[in-house]
Amino acid sequence: MPSIEPTVGHSSTGLPLAGADRDNARQMLVDGLRNAHALELQAIEMLKRNVERLEHYPALKGRLARHLQESEEQQAMVEQCLSDLGESPSTIKDSVMGFVQNMQQMVHAAADDEVLKNSFAGFAFEHFEIASYTALALFADAAGQPRIAETARAICQQEQIMADWLEEHLPEVVEEHLALMASGDQKH
Ligand SMILES: [Fe+2]
Repeated sequence: MPSIEPTVGHSSTGLPLAGADRDNARQMLVDGLRNAHALELQAIEMLKRNVERLEHYPALKGRLARHLQESEEQQAMVEQCLSDLGESPSTIKDSVMGFVQNMQQMVHAAADDEVLKNSFAGFAFEHFEIASYTALALFADAAGQPRIAETARAICQQEQIMADWLEEHLPEVVEEHLALMASGDQKH
């Protein structure tokens, strides 16, 4: 008689996971999704503030405005993943909040080199997101949730593209900042 198999998760080595391991993977997936949701909230706030201010850096402003829209979509996607699992974006992990507070401090420190600090913080933030979504995709694989894994990988790719853009354009931002300082014009 054929037995009814529940959806079986797989480890990164491709081996199926047994019940208890799958439950652990599911819990890690839920925690990871909540963390990702908190991160996107923070990303949206940071990006909004930056987009409002960067009048002397049109290329950066335009790219950040695009990523703001992407981040809003990502947040909705993460929310959908949570609701597919019957969960809501409630508890926020301390580790993520600690990181986010550090980022906020950096971003809030209004100074002559504000645009540079914000660029560094944005760069760090994107990489934190890349790491988070990479892990999230693996948790989803292990929990037997291929659609969530696919979503996490798609979001991760957007974060990677944003991080690459920031890395590529950082020299321009620094040079523009130096030119503005030299001309005595506004700094942001
Ligand atoms: Fe994001």
